[in-house]
Amino acid sequence: MRKLSMIGAAFLGSIFFLCACGEEQPDVPDKSYIGVAYYNQSDTFLNELLDSFKEQLKEMQNEDMETVVMVRDAAGVQRTQDDQVKELINAGCDVLCVNLVDRADPSEIIDLARDHDVPIIFFNREPVAEDLMQWDRLFYVGADAEESGAMQGELAAETIKTNDQADKNRDGKIQYVVLEGEAGHQDAIIRTETVVKTLAESGIELEKLSYQIANWNRAQAENRMEQLIGQYSNQIELVLANNDDMALGAMDAYKKLNYTEAALPLFFGIDGTDAGLKAVVDSELAGTVYNDKEGQAKAMAKLCWALITGEGMEELDFQKERCIYLPYAEVTSENVDEFLARSNTP
Ligand code: BGC
Ligand code: CA
Repeated sequence: MRKLSMIGAAFLGSIFFLCACGEEQPDVPDKSYIGVAYYNQSDTFLNELLDSFKEQLKEMQNEDMETVVMVRDAAGVQRTQDDQVKELINAGCDVLCVNLVDRADPSEIIDLARDHDVPIIFFNREPVAEDLMQWDRLFYVGADAEESGAMQGELAAETIKTNDQADKNRDGKIQYVVLEGEAGHQDAIIRTETVVKTLAESGIELEKLSYQIANWNRAQAENRMEQLIGQYSNQIELVLANNDDMALGAMDAYKKLNYTEAALPLFFGIDGTDAGLKAVVDSELAGTVYNDKEGQAKAMAKLCWALITGEGMEELDFQKERCIYLPYAEVTSENVDEFLARSNTP
């Protein structure tokens, strides 16, 4: 009993203390809560993007406003993400940033958010247009997949044309394999289509050996690549990967099999992650395409801020009403320093 009443007194005391603080110190910044739900914490690109997002928000803080970010990992399960969004809304989030597990299945999340009037910024995994039209407080921040595929194709075409070792068996054609991201992801489907189309349009004769899905993942790509090497041995001249992690995984497979440098195919990735840029510096990746995580993080942070404070919406560059797309950029050993600097300074 005595213990209980002591706890009770302490509780009342702290309420009194909190109220007193609220009255006497009107300068304490308001706290806003931002809930982030993302599809999988093993994703390199998204982890780097979210680090940058948190830093951007910190920089925007001022004496009137402080932001608290709560991050949830769905570990690849949409049902888990639906529950996490519910929990984040119940915890009092002012804005949600959602990286859908299944980009075709946002209805439950949209209904929940609309019922509680919490706006959503979808990012990186783009919902279909009809879903975004369900409510006028739904936004998207990402990049244009077709642009990245075209840039990867241009980089590869340029390298092949200027490198007389590219066509190893000298049959006038480039034998290639593609390592693809998740089936159904806008970036996987469109990047693969566009890179091949762009190469062909630049006059490169191509011969497709195989396509393999490796779900954006380095270890899976290593595994798939080992199988491909087993099947095609020295025939592979070009590896086109939908992201850097998979390009690096393909390289891991060759390293494991002790291939000499001269026997390696050309590797191209997309993203410009820390490891991807380093591989460009080391000339292991012939090139990559910068997926502007700092730009995307900044757009998300500004949009959060605008939704919370009601100010600054007009500074944002919307397309299709409520979408923001950041441009990609081609990265080679010649300009890689510029991107290294960018990714270190948010
Ligand atoms: C990135 C990938 C990432 C994927 C996750 C893509 O835009 O290029 O690296 O795994 O998004 O959704
Ligand atoms: Ca050839």
